[in-house]
Amino acid sequence: MFNRSNASGENKEPIKVVVVDDIADTRENIKKLLAFEDQEFRVVGTAGTGIEAVRVVQETQPDIVLMDINMPDMDGIQATERISKVYPGAAVIIMSVQADSDYFRKAMLAGARNYLTKPVQLDELYNTIRAVYKQHEFARMQQAVLTNAPVDMRSATNAMVNDAGALRAGHIIVVYSPQGGTGATTMATNLATGMMKKNTKVLLVDANLQFGDVGVFLKLQSQSTLHDLVGKIDDLDTDFFDSIVTTHESGLKVLLSPPKLELALEVEQTPNAIARILEKVANTYDFVIVDCGNYLNESQLSLFDMATKIVLMATPTLASIKNARFMLDLFDRLNYVPTKTMFVLNQVEDERQQRAGRVTIPTETIEKHLKRQVEAKIPYDQRTILSAVNKGVPVITYQRDRTKSPIKELVDFSEHVYNSLVGDHAVDDDLDIEKTAIKKKNPLLRLGR
Ligand SMILES: Nc1ncnc2c1ncn2[C@@H]1O[C@H](COP(=O)(O)OP(=O)(O)OP(=O)(O)O)[C@@H](O)[C@H]1O
Ligand SMILES: [Mg+2]
Repeated sequence: MFNRSNASGENKEPIKVVVVDDIADTRENIKKLLAFEDQEFRVVGTAGTGIEAVRVVQETQPDIVLMDINMPDMDGIQATERISKVYPGAAVIIMSVQADSDYFRKAMLAGARNYLTKPVQLDELYNTIRAVYKQHEFARMQQAVLTNAPVDMRSATNAMVNDAGALRAGHIIVVYSPQGGTGATTMATNLATGMMKKNTKVLLVDANLQFGDVGVFLKLQSQSTLHDLVGKIDDLDTDFFDSIVTTHESGLKVLLSPPKLELALEVEQTPNAIARILEKVANTYDFVIVDCGNYLNESQLSLFDMATKIVLMATPTLASIKNARFMLDLFDRLNYVPTKTMFVLNQVEDERQQRAGRVTIPTETIEKHLKRQVEAKIPYDQRTILSAVNKGVPVITYQRDRTKSPIKELVDFSEHVYNSLVGDHAVDDDLDIEKTAIKKKNPLLRLGR
């Protein structure tokens, strides 16, 4: 399915692979398997220990590293960690006999992108390398710029902006609050809309399976939801996925949560359903925003793991800040880099607004207590937020004037997230939300979606 030629049809270089295993026979076997497809894969180096692996990767600058776990000197997990730091352009795929999820979780946290269980099957080997190569496009481009290696900028740009089947960055942004009613759905719907720039494809996923509100917030109804995907995860293709996704009138793509509780329970019984679906389709989008439920389970942890950013929502109240602290501690224990989490305060009241009986805590006190900076403060404004919800539009499209609170803060935060992920590529013009107003008046344009 994945064709390694660029938009103009030229063939590209084979995917460069380094094979790391302390057993020489295993290295040779894998080399032979890859040699069957020598147009597509080229083994550029091998290593028998972790330390050697780090050196060989720096020397040969591969696209993919196939990494054993148990090795003398530095083990595969430590070597993966090192490689992610010294040469992040290479994507590590762990190979191990241990089919133990805890073990693999550690490897993924160390920076591995996927894993293979030994003995490695031919098809699985090819498909995993292809999938990881595709997912790692953005990191490779960044690495190429960093090392000043020759990079086909035209094809790199194409990869980011082309329509139909093109490879995209696939950043996953998980919006989470441990407490209900904090504003996760408000944030997710607005963040998704705010990140829709020209040529940018955004998907909003309602991962609050049982009580998802995205459909209500955006006035979307569809018979096709996440539930339709669970039985087909293993051979999910993007065409089928696209047929399940709903399109909001702004152009935003939305994957809705199941319409009935019993269907939600079925999805929940499928381990890591959403993470596995996103693993397959995220790269057909630039950004995937995930609105999560507030419970914490294995599936939620997988989503945190695979996220590029976690937007942690809280309100400035005692209970909410206590819960945010639990989450920040958990993220520390999971070894997430601090920049992975963006801490946002919602429903921040000024003195005039302070509601009777509600003790709100000043931002500085919260920052000091959590030892975390608040990355955005969204003011309390029930009138604007509820009116937008009643109308079924994201708050930031509700009024044209984006200098007014709370629209300004929501727009500023989406810009902040966008810039933190895309950096210099940011094109600060032509927010699609402006076109929404036009589309509303022009049914032909809406039909075109
Ligand atoms: N900044 C705000 N000012 C005033 N009201 C707000 C604000 N943000 C959200 N709300 C309101 O608070 C309620 C909860 O918001 P929202 O549904 O976004 O939270 P949630 O965390 O997704 O909740 P749930 O736990 O139900 O999923 C909604 O009625 C929403 O309109
Ligand atoms: Mg919600």
